[in-house]
Amino acid sequence: MTRRPTIPIIDERSRLPGAGRVEPGRDLSDRRGRELRDLRISITDRCNFRCIYCMPKGVFGKDYPFLGRKELLSFEEITRLARIFAEQGVRKIRITGGEPLLRRGVEHLIAALARIAGIELTLTTNGVLLPRLATRLRDAGLDRITVSLDALDEKTFRRMNDVDFPVADVLAGIAAAERAGFGQIKVNMVVKRGVNDHAVMDLARHFRGSGHIVRFIEYMDVGSSNGWRMDEVLPSREVVDRIAAEFPLQPADANYAGEVAQRWRYADGSGEVGVISSVTQAFCATCTRLRLSTEGKLYTCLFAQQGHDLRALLRGGADDERLRSAIAAVWQQREDRYSEIRTAETAAARKIEMSYIGG
Ligand code: GTP
Ligand code: 5AD
Ligand code: SF4
Ligand code: SF4
Repeated sequence: MTRRPTIPIIDERSRLPGAGRVEPGRDLSDRRGRELRDLRISITDRCNFRCIYCMPKGVFGKDYPFLGRKELLSFEEITRLARIFAEQGVRKIRITGGEPLLRRGVEHLIAALARIAGIELTLTTNGVLLPRLATRLRDAGLDRITVSLDALDEKTFRRMNDVDFPVADVLAGIAAAERAGFGQIKVNMVVKRGVNDHAVMDLARHFRGSGHIVRFIEYMDVGSSNGWRMDEVLPSREVVDRIAAEFPLQPADANYAGEVAQRWRYADGSGEVGVISSVTQAFCATCTRLRLSTEGKLYTCLFAQQGHDLRALLRGGADDERLRSAIAAVWQQREDRYSEIRTAETAAARKIEMSYIGG
């Protein structure tokens, strides 16, 4: 893992007149030719929800075995690593968890990360702490926000979050984000057939014309605790068909190479929706994402069973060059394509929980 890259990495720019050779460690490619572009950082493994597809109750006895404070990467450690990742080609950083807004002082981390040049800074939240924090996050320099919302009717929403949070709290969070100046907000809904799939149309109707974008996500076999079954996945194709039956849809081009969501525009111009089909149409071939867990382990796939410990290096006094080469070695050896090779057996295997690795 700490092996230094021996082959200098050359990219297109090095062939332009006057462009110098790219420093080793920049614009990394993995074994399948995928570049490192996105970093998702989980800043807490805790959450105030217990979504049945993510942190179901009762699987670890009384509660989840949360990390202790000293085990978490500090804001300084995260910022130092983020800077190094940016030097190595990362262009987007998403702060996740658990529920990232539960980490005290999160706005200070955002402020530090926002100072890194050339990075789009985004955050995924369940929304209920946004009335308190949205303005602080925006002022700190957060570019975009994504809010999870799995139903609009109280009964189903409470069944999904399993801790009795009312829908109104999330809608108040979205409204607070609007007021704080986050323009277009993405609303993520995980669709579990037979549990909340009726809410697809509720969300489509509610957010159509709002300027925000709902993305319907296929329920995945991430982690080991949610007891995933294929027959509980509603294929995105069906989601699109259901919406299109009421509001005609037209396919839209991706905003950027490797975009996870497929975009569909309402034919009447009232906005768009997205579908994320990681089960029925895997997108591993263009996956440019790396994940940094709450305790500083690097994961090259959402479904990876092992991480690479950067915290030990950080706390062992590694200099930036050492960290750079460790990261480069991890990415250059990467071969993951879990969603392309998923079977009933792999789905049942022990995997890292999403609340720890970062959604
Ligand atoms: P944008 O920057 O808004 O385009 O964000 P995004 O679509 O890249 O990220 P987001 O965090 O909103 O992703 C939404 C959901 O897609 C996640 O919560 C996951 O359910 C799923 N997803 C994202 N990345 C991956 C991935 O690398 N692999 C798999 N299998 N699913 C992913
Ligand atoms: N399947 C799909 N997406 C999931 N997420 C968490 N667990 C799952 C799962 N089993 C994603 C959702 C949620 C975000 C925090 O993590 O998009 O909105
Ligand atoms: Fe918490 Fe998000 Fe997981 Fe739900 S999906 S338990 S809100 S981290
Ligand atoms: Fe990337 Fe792994 Fe998701 Fe495939 S399954 S898209 S390799 S994170």
